Amino acid sequence: MSRDLKGKRAIVTGASSGIGRAIAADLVKAGVRVVLASRGADKLNEVADALRAAGGDVLAVPTDVTKPDDRSRLIETTVSAFGGLDLLVNNAGVGSWGHFADSTEPICRTVLEVNFFAPVELTRLAMPHLTRGNQPALVNVTSMCGRKGMPAWPEYSASKFALVGISEAWRAEFQRYGVDVLTIVPGLTNSGFEKNWLRNDGKADLRFDLGMTPEYLAAKITDAIRKNRTETVLGTEAKRLLRFNRYFPRLTNWLLARKVKKLYAGK
Ligand SMILES: NC(=O)c1ccc[n+]([C@@H]2O[C@H](COP(=O)([O-])OP(=O)(O)OC[C@H]3O[C@@H](n4cnc5c(N)ncnc54)[C@H](OP(=O)(O)O)[C@@H]3O)[C@@H](O)[C@H]2O)c1
Repeated sequence: MSRDLKGKRAIVTGASSGIGRAIAADLVKAGVRVVLASRGADKLNEVADALRAAGGDVLAVPTDVTKPDDRSRLIETTVSAFGGLDLLVNNAGVGSWGHFADSTEPICRTVLEVNFFAPVELTRLAMPHLTRGNQPALVNVTSMCGRKGMPAWPEYSASKFALVGISEAWRAEFQRYGVDVLTIVPGLTNSGFEKNWLRNDGKADLRFDLGMTPEYLAAKITDAIRKNRTETVLGTEAKRLLRFNRYFPRLTNWLLARKVKKLYAGK
C-alpha cells in the first residue's frame, strides 16, 4: 500500500524542537496539514510561523501531553480546524540518563507518563477520528532502547519497550478500523535531546554530535508513512546493535555489563 500524503490532516506532538519539528516540516513539504503540539507556546508559534512562511497549513496548539484536558483540547481543536484527522505522530518524549540505583520514583513516573501513558491516552482520544480518516495511520516514535534495554537508560528503556509493545498489539487490533500502526525505532540523533533530560549523569561517551540529523530522520519517517512500513529502525549503530543482540543476546549482555564495570570501577 502506498499512502498519498497530499491534503492529509496530522497531529505531531513534540513539534517545537528536534525530531518533531523536522517531522512537521517534512510533512508540510509533502502537502500535509499539520497541528503542532508541545508545551512551550513561544517556541511552538515560532515553528508555526516558519512553516506558514514556507506555505504550510499549520496550527499551533500548546499542549502538555500528560494533561487530560490538554489532550482533549488538542484533538477537538484539530478536528474543528481540519474537519478530521488522518495521522497522529506520537513523538513528544523525555529522557533520563543515569543508573537506577541513584534514580528516583518521580523520575520513573515522569518518564513513563510522557513517553507511554500520554501517547496511549492521546491515541484513545484520536481513534474515533482516525477511524473515519483518509488512509489513517498512527505513528509512534520509540527508540532503539525500546528494542534493547540499555544501561543508564532504565526508565527510558521501560517506557519505550512499553510503547513498542502496545504498538505491536494495536497493529492487529486496529486493522478492524482500517488504522495502520507504524513504529519508528531511532538510534542516536543530533537533536538537542540531551538538553531536556531529567538527569544527565550517565558515564558513557555519548556522541550525539555524530548522530543522525533530525532532518534525515524526518525524511525516513515520511518515507515510512508513505510506504506504510510497520517498523523502521533508523541509524547504523542502532541497526548494528539490534542485529547483533538478536543473534548473540548473551554476548551483547556480557559486553554491556563489562562496559558498565569498567566505567564504574572503584565507584
Ligand atoms: N535524539 C535521540 O537520539 C533520540 C533517539 C531515539 C528516540 N528519540 C525520541 O524522539 C522523540 C523526540 O525527541 P528529540 O530528540 O527531538 O528531543 P527534544 O528536542 O528534547 O524534543 C522533545 C519534544 O517533546 C516536547 N515535550 C516534552 N515533554 C512534553 C510534554 N509533557 N507535553 C508535550 N510535549 C512535550 C518538547 O517540547 P516542550 O518542552 O516545549 O514541551 C519537544 O518539542 C522522543 O520521543 C525521543 O524519545 C530520540
